[in-house]
Amino acid sequence: WLNENGMPAPPSLSTSLLTKNKPFPVRGERANYVNIPHVIVMVGLPARGKTYMAKKLTRYLNWIGIKTKVFNLGEYRRRATQQYKNHNFFRSDNEEAMALRQRCAMDALEDVCNWLDNEGGEVAVFDATNTTMLRRRLIYDKVVMEMDYKLFYVESICDDESIIESNIREVKVSSPDYCGMTAEEALADFLQRIEHYMAQYQPLDEAKEDHLSFMKVYNTGEKVVVHKHEGHIQARIVYYLMNTHVTPRTIYLARHGESTHNEMGRIGGDANLSENGRLFGSVLAKYIKDQNIPKLRVWTSWLKRTIQTAEGIEAPQERWKALNEIDAGICEEMTYAEIKRHFPEDFAARDQNKFSYRYPRGESYEDLVARLEPVIMELERQGNVLLIAHQAVLRCLLAYFLDKPSDELPYIEVPLHTVIKLTPVAYGCKEEYVPLHVPAVNTHRAKPEIPGSLDSVSSIVDNMEMAS
Ligand code: ATP
Ligand code: F6P
Repeated sequence: WLNENGMPAPPSLSTSLLTKNKPFPVRGERANYVNIPHVIVMVGLPARGKTYMAKKLTRYLNWIGIKTKVFNLGEYRRRATQQYKNHNFFRSDNEEAMALRQRCAMDALEDVCNWLDNEGGEVAVFDATNTTMLRRRLIYDKVVMEMDYKLFYVESICDDESIIESNIREVKVSSPDYCGMTAEEALADFLQRIEHYMAQYQPLDEAKEDHLSFMKVYNTGEKVVVHKHEGHIQARIVYYLMNTHVTPRTIYLARHGESTHNEMGRIGGDANLSENGRLFGSVLAKYIKDQNIPKLRVWTSWLKRTIQTAEGIEAPQERWKALNEIDAGICEEMTYAEIKRHFPEDFAARDQNKFSYRYPRGESYEDLVARLEPVIMELERQGNVLLIAHQAVLRCLLAYFLDKPSDELPYIEVPLHTVIKLTPVAYGCKEEYVPLHVPAVNTHRAKPEIPGSLDSVSSIVDNMEMAS
């Protein structure tokens, strides 16, 4: 498959994977309705990026509408033990600790199954080292033989010592295990901990564990091996993890400059920039130039207001139709007050469930997420990018990066004339709002107390209309 930019695109989202608001069916109905629950099991020595991948994958799957949760064994272990003393806890001849670790693993697995069976979970990610065949056998017996779920292993293998040391410094020295220790003490202890695991480590084995479905990621993605993956969800996971990288970079998001429609409080359309909007375009071009961003690429939608905003920016530019603003269908180019007047029921329905509400002959936020999935996939592959798009589009992209649930997504604040800088840190993303101090109207409409009321319309224009 190729998307509109000629890039490989995954199969489109199945409707069942996007029906977030439907209750999950009872067991037995499931096969006809949605994919069988999945357990994704991480494998690998400590500091190999398992938690990083588990969290990131979970964020992505939740964003595309698949209910996913991480179960981190480290947290179970910390709850079950006294304050961690040192690496000796992880020796394989420490029988007491081994028994406790085994019990924690089984407790976590029990919670995994309970969540999938009774709480509507679709994908559970079991984040632990799972470095022995025996442990993987126990997991298989529980997950596949007893529960009849799908099981997929993701192993991270890394022999680059500089990556391992920088991983430890980035996330491990600040772990609750090392509270009160210096970074150097924590690093030394953690390296010893890895040694204890190495003594017992059995990487996933294509011959001896031929019945398992798995992927192996070598040195942060330098090489990927996939073995017997099955079905849609596993294909998506493989595709996603193959596209992500850990090289530092920054994503800059901005809405187009204020448009003449924004000035009038009209939604949608393909209007030109207002005078303030054009000023923002030039201030943005200067801001970006001053940042001196290596190998920056600029992405805009196909609409005039984003293309005009990007005009003065000195960097290669690409246009994505997928970045066009939400299609408001029969409400295109109306003000919120006009929509309320002409379609009062629709206006109130949107306030009741803004994420799922689809404008007649137009789109919902849920549709928009599906449309933006190839954009996210390509963003994951890229380095520094400045993406100039629209209010609803940027809400969807921000929800992905900042892990916001679908009910909050349509209300995320994305002011005009503000650059949002996203920088990956540890397991998440740092966000920074940089206002460029060019005046603009406010187009944000907060969720009103009473669905369909106009009280909370902050746009000056709509307030004027209400008064008139
Ligand atoms: P532990 O077993 O102690 O929980 P872990 O394997 O879960 O360790 P993480 O806590 O996820 O390790 O390590 C995070 C670091 O791993 C981040 O700095 C991230 O950049 C890096 N990282 C992400 N993906 C990979 C990968 N595929 N290989 C190696 N390192 C990676
Ligand atoms: O008002 C500007 C705008 O980008 C419209 O084109 C779009 O319909 C709207 O914002 C999306 O915001 P909301 O979903 O809050 O109506």
